[in-house]
Amino acid sequence: MSDSARPPLVRIEPLGQSFEAPDSLTILEAAGFANLRLPRSCRNGTCRTCICRMTAGRVRYTIEWPGLSREEKTEGYILPCVAIAETDVVLNVPDAVGLTPLK
Ligand code: FES
Repeated sequence: MSDSARPPLVRIEPLGQSFEAPDSLTILEAAGFANLRLPRSCRNGTCRTCICRMTAGRVRYTIEWPGLSREEKTEGYILPCVAIAETDVVLNVPDAVGLTPLK
């Protein structure tokens, strides 16, 4: 993968904010480092609080059986708490909140 000079970018809509999501972090963790708060609870892929729709891009999972049905996967739903971005990704997360960084 010679063209992976930078980590994938994740854009959160409708907020319109983007952040880098390196391979070492889940999308939820990377959002936290970028001062974005996404809905979440269990953080292990079971409660589905974080479920959202991916409108572009590709992810892989840190666990074998994320709590999604085949239909949901087909429709583009992902669980960002256990998902790692493999490409640039666009997510629709109406409840995302941008936090002001502490100075
Ligand atoms: S936070 Fe529970 S499934 Fe993602």
